[in-house]
Amino acid sequence: MNIKEAISTRHSVRQYLPKPISQEHRDQLNELVESCRKESGLNFQMIYDEPMCFNSFLAHYGKFTNVKNYIAVVGKKSLENMEELGGYYGEKIVLAAQQMGLNTCWVGGTYGKRKQKAEIGPDEKLICVIAIGYGANEGNKHRSKPVEKLCDIKGSDMPQWFRNGLIAAMMAPTALNQQKFFVTLDGDEPVITTKGGMMTKIDLGIVKYNFEAASGHKCK
Ligand SMILES: Cc1cc2nc3c(=O)[nH]c(=O)nc-3n(C[C@H](O)[C@H](O)[C@H](O)COP(=O)(O)O)c2cc1C
Repeated sequence: MNIKEAISTRHSVRQYLPKPISQEHRDQLNELVESCRKESGLNFQMIYDEPMCFNSFLAHYGKFTNVKNYIAVVGKKSLENMEELGGYYGEKIVLAAQQMGLNTCWVGGTYGKRKQKAEIGPDEKLICVIAIGYGANEGNKHRSKPVEKLCDIKGSDMPQWFRNGLIAAMMAPTALNQQKFFVTLDGDEPVITTKGGMMTKIDLGIVKYNFEAASGHKCK
């Protein structure tokens, strides 16, 4: 599965099979998480075989079942752009997981914050978690805002690479599917911004990663 296929087949999955993640997949995930820690400066942690975090009232309310593994997105409070970096590198891991045949769901609210097992230092913050495992289903395609609300470049003025990036941005997961981002061009450089709001900085990092992976162009 190439990266564009991973982007279009990825949907939030909240119900998982009771099957543990294989050693082969753990080795691949651990290696990727380690490289993301180094590159981002964040303290990503893989938590395996720990069902308690998704055994809370909130998690059941969020319709999560059989979540036994998650990625904790942890960062130093002093790190500038911590949320955006968490979104960007977290989405890199999410798409690689999709390519391995695993499913995921970004979770900022509906999990047991006091039951989660990541190690969080006094100078650190848990940004969010990402549920991961073998899905009982593949999830569903989300509804998207119309392209005119998300981008001000006319179709006829769009280079093909930009169109590819925009489609991938529209497929990106955002908190509550809020899609509070805007894509434009500054000369020939893509620019993605957000007006702000709950979890929109994490969303911005996720959307930028999708855009870059599909277009091959770095965003401002
Ligand atoms: C930063 C972030 C936080 C999220 N938090 C939750 C959550 O607390 N509970 C939940 O069920 N889904 C959560 N989601 C999943 C979104 O609802 C989902 O990504 C969105 O509806 C789009 O659907 P899709 O991921 O299937 O494309 C979150 C997504 C993001 C990006």
